Amino acid sequence: MCGIVGYVGQNNAVPVVIQGLQRLEYRGYDSCGIAMMNSEGLNLEKVTGKVMELQGLLAQKKNSTSLAIGHTRWATHGPPTFDNAHPHVSQDGKIALVHNGIIENYKVLRDELENDGYQFRSETDTEVIVGLISKCYHGNLEHAVREALSYVVGAYGLAIVHADEPEKIVCTRKGAPLILAMGENEYFVASDVAAILHYSKDVIYLDNEEIGVLTPEGIETYSVADEPVVKKIHKITFNLEEIEKGGYEHFMLKEIFSQPQTIYDAMRGRLLPEEGNAHLGGIEHMIGSILHADQRYFTACGTSWHAGLIGEMMFEQFARLPCEVEYASEFRYREPLVDAKSIVFAISQSGETADTLAAIQEAKNRDATVLGICNVVGSSIARETEAGVYVHAGPEIGVASTKAFTSQVTVLSLLTLKLARLMGMSESDGLEIADAMQRLPENVEWVLKQADQIAEIAKLYADASNFLYLGRGVNFPVALEGALKLKEISYIHAEGYPAAEMKHGPIALIDKSMPIVAIAPQDKTYDKILSNIEEVKARHGRVIALATRGDERIKDIADHVLYVPPALSFTAPILNVIPLQLLSYYVAVERGCNVDQPRNLAKSVTVE
Ligand code: G6P
Repeated sequence: MCGIVGYVGQNNAVPVVIQGLQRLEYRGYDSCGIAMMNSEGLNLEKVTGKVMELQGLLAQKKNSTSLAIGHTRWATHGPPTFDNAHPHVSQDGKIALVHNGIIENYKVLRDELENDGYQFRSETDTEVIVGLISKCYHGNLEHAVREALSYVVGAYGLAIVHADEPEKIVCTRKGAPLILAMGENEYFVASDVAAILHYSKDVIYLDNEEIGVLTPEGIETYSVADEPVVKKIHKITFNLEEIEKGGYEHFMLKEIFSQPQTIYDAMRGRLLPEEGNAHLGGIEHMIGSILHADQRYFTACGTSWHAGLIGEMMFEQFARLPCEVEYASEFRYREPLVDAKSIVFAISQSGETADTLAAIQEAKNRDATVLGICNVVGSSIARETEAGVYVHAGPEIGVASTKAFTSQVTVLSLLTLKLARLMGMSESDGLEIADAMQRLPENVEWVLKQADQIAEIAKLYADASNFLYLGRGVNFPVALEGALKLKEISYIHAEGYPAAEMKHGPIALIDKSMPIVAIAPQDKTYDKILSNIEEVKARHGRVIALATRGDERIKDIADHVLYVPPALSFTAPILNVIPLQLLSYYVAVERGCNVDQPRNLAKSVTVE
């Protein structure tokens, strides 16, 4: 959610931290700041607004230092003001700290510190940690941090410096992401690998409550029990180009257009077209448990939850295996019927979503087996789950998820195929599905060629205040996802509905100013959807229909038709969601919205 970057080494830390913060801006972006260590002590600069403004300020002052920590904030406690921006500094001006996460018991801690005479400058929960560390400090920062955090309830990724130990950054995390990285005689801390990839691909993932100490001599790591611990160094396999725009106007557009490749990557080595089957190395040993589980759950948030809905429909329709989908935030608190004979799949792009992590913990507390379907390699969810499948979509920077969604659905399709074959699906059906999946990248290419036409339609509807998305069966979650995409980046109110349900409520809203997106492929519900479209037209609604290539009939009733290649219900959601991604993208561009960094949203929500 918020972004953290820190540097200690031989070079000037300022440009490293600023560039890192810019790469993290997609995570949280209402204010930012940097604490720099120099011979006189700590030097602090903060701004409300973008990192570019902080950069301008620092350029004027020509700051240079070999140690600095920086932060981009996404406000939780207190509005985005100068005082609430990080780094937060102790009352004596010696400690500076950046924090990602939420301190749940901050009120009690704040009252206690205030009773002791500590004066707070901000409204943030974070400042209590600075106060506590200050109180616990007796000459060794890591010891003070450990003691201070023993009073804290909540989630944190932290980087902390002290003017009396000017060559040291102390880092720790619990329930929020934080990585350490090493270059040549220079060391980094960041909340996301994207921040430091320019300098290093050798990273250490800190486990919960472990402490990392960065100095010009290297990185030392300590366990929860304060014992030195040797951490594995992981090699990052993706490149800087993958997190840059590559000629596209926005990351979101680049990510939409990369889907032929990312879908292929999700299937590579896993789809077995000659056998009409699939092989998922990471969970192959769990397939028996999935088949024989008493309950199967998908749990996730946002777009990943929509992928879960599609997974549920596919599991039930093709593998005949019952399963449930739960919002992670609800799953945790509703005493789920989960036990040692349950399988819970946690689906997450970032692998850091706090609600999903909490749901995983709840499932584990109830002895369930938890498997992950994640994009970010080495993320908390990937590490907290017993086994899992990476979706291999590569770094997704645009806040609105696109390529990660289609990769999640691709992985769920592969898993369904595997389970369905074990549950009795015939070889010929398996071969037909595998063939359709293999042709997905070329079919997605075909859909993407309609981007210009979609951009034209977007111009006509960019001033709408409401949109309704209709779909049936496996296309109902696609309608939900289309509506979510529009809401997220264009701020137009949009709802997804099962097409036939429209007459039980939303039909009351329809008039000539209400655009309806109707997903109407030529499947078994085609005639019914046509009737739903007629119902809309009878009330003067304007219809954008998504139809199967070659369908001429629909042209007579819809105002606009977007075509997708003929598809099995297995591959339909992936093909159908892409025009909807493009539609929301072009509407948002037309409305002048900040597509990659929509207001109030964050890419990775690491607070509950
Ligand atoms: C945030 C993002 C969404 C995402 C959701 C779940 O709300 O803005 O795009 O779908 O979190 O994130 P996850 O990383 O767990 O898939």
